[in-house]
Amino acid sequence: MCGIVGYIGKRDVAPLLLEGLQRLEYRGYDSAGVVITSPKATGLKMVKAKGRVRDLEARVPKRFTGTTGIAHTRWATHGAPSDENAHPHMSADNKVAVVHNGIIDNATELRAKLEADGVVFLSETDTEVLTHLVARSEAPTLEERVRQALKLVEGTYGIAVMHADFNDRIVVARNGSPVVLGIGEKEMFVASDVAALVAHTRQVVTLDDGEMATLKADDFRTYTTEGSRTTATPTTVEWEAESYDMGGHDTYMHKEIYEQVDAVDRVLRGRIDDRFSTVHLGGLNLDARAARGIRRVKILGCGTSYHAGQIGAQMIEELARIPADAEPASEFRYRDPVVDPDTLYIAVSQSGETYDVLAAVQELKRKGARVLGVVNVVGSAIARETDGGVYVHAGPEVCVVSTKCFTNTVVAFGLLALHLGRIRDLSVADGKRIIEGLRKLPGQISEILAGEDEIKKLAEQFTDAKSMLFIGRVRGYPVAREASLKLKEVSYIHAEAYPASELKHGPLALIEPAMPTVAIVPDDDLLEKNRAALEEIKARSGKIVAVAHQVQEKADHTIVVPKNEDELDPILMGIPLQLLAYHTALALGRDIDKPRNLAKSVTVE
Ligand code: F6R
Repeated sequence: MCGIVGYIGKRDVAPLLLEGLQRLEYRGYDSAGVVITSPKATGLKMVKAKGRVRDLEARVPKRFTGTTGIAHTRWATHGAPSDENAHPHMSADNKVAVVHNGIIDNATELRAKLEADGVVFLSETDTEVLTHLVARSEAPTLEERVRQALKLVEGTYGIAVMHADFNDRIVVARNGSPVVLGIGEKEMFVASDVAALVAHTRQVVTLDDGEMATLKADDFRTYTTEGSRTTATPTTVEWEAESYDMGGHDTYMHKEIYEQVDAVDRVLRGRIDDRFSTVHLGGLNLDARAARGIRRVKILGCGTSYHAGQIGAQMIEELARIPADAEPASEFRYRDPVVDPDTLYIAVSQSGETYDVLAAVQELKRKGARVLGVVNVVGSAIARETDGGVYVHAGPEVCVVSTKCFTNTVVAFGLLALHLGRIRDLSVADGKRIIEGLRKLPGQISEILAGEDEIKKLAEQFTDAKSMLFIGRVRGYPVAREASLKLKEVSYIHAEAYPASELKHGPLALIEPAMPTVAIVPDDDLLEKNRAALEEIKARSGKIVAVAHQVQEKADHTIVVPKNEDELDPILMGIPLQLLAYHTALALGRDIDKPRNLAKSVTVE
């Protein structure tokens, strides 16, 4: 999704902004642009282009120098990808430039009013409305002009604004779309994602919704859109610039699949308490009495995070014996849910910025619910909106499709389930058993990754498939759902996930030799039931790949994974299927790190 980067200081700004845009490329975009100035300049200079950042770079003229600038990568919402629709958007007098992430809901109405007043629009975007509104304000300061413009717009935004008459500053504002300030030595940065900042500074301030900031070379201040000052204490980002490099792998997806060994080790580190056979989760803000009072757990997330939440719900129900379920946050917020004071709500999001999840959290908070977060990005909007939670410590995930964040989120749920279980009725012996299982995970992930060649060969058989079926029961069903999502996202092969128990209620009609099935078959109490499903498929000449703890006779191929505790098996069973999706996509020549039509962080509805 769209990306913003800005700088004010003494350095030559154009190369710095272009490099920042490159670091945001992973989010997905279709055009890019940059506008710059310097204290002595009389105006703003702008270049923009449809296509990649390198297409923009090719258009930058030789004498394109300055020390202040804002830049953008656009992911089309209003208007097709084109040079004209690329950001920044400039006012007719070339004095105001705006870059914007988000969507202005009342853009059509505002545009009609401005056009009736004689304003000529150069693009089809909603953002251009904002540019003209700022340009038409006659308030004495840029801050006030931006504030007046924002009062008229409805929707979501993260914006950065420059004005030729106020060229000692950049004014930024946030409402529903991330804006992070980077604090340097006599220089300031701004971006929509820390990925664009960490090469220059690790000191950051994340704006809240309804907050604005003024950046000058040696100073910044934050205030609300109403004008009152806010306090902003910089925090240090743990992620290093190197975390964003490919590290010898051909794609980020491959690198991130391999990083799972260390990432899982990290989410466990410092949290296990052997003495009481439990775990400590520092940021949970949920004391034992409150934990015992929980009557239900409702987990909310989108896409892969929702699937992680489904596994999490199963773990909480099994280990803590609290009724738990997961629901897509995007559905929950629109169905006028009954908000129950004895339910613990958990919002799951790797980016911590997904709009649907954030909106669900805000709705729950408004109704007085207790909401925890299971989030990867420290200090992100969801992390800050929730009452406490568990960071998943997966490190930055650059590939659009999630792998290591998914696995770490599920492990974080394992920790939470154990913690809640040990406060309630989970025995010391069971606590010990789960801890031993958790400790085995990194080594077992290494074992699975060592089988990559076998999975690569297998994947080559699926490149002709038009569609694939993924099945699993209870613990295995969310694993099947996530594996099916991974395959379709990255290879574009249609895939459908079904509970194995539902096969004979409909999907069996699809089974034939050209429709392969991937079945999750753990060695648990449902092994025989799962085997029965394999028989049903085989009897109809279906081709089967099983992910199992022992070779399955009815399967054409079994990917054998190491056995852990029953409750933790789902963490491992999805990992070979990440590799299956990866190698299928690779054999098909797909753009693995940036699948078509997808963005890393969905900060709009
Ligand atoms: C799929 C994927 C998405 C995200 C979803 C929610 O590989 O990554 O389905 O999980 O868009 O994003 P987060 O987790 O950032 O809230």
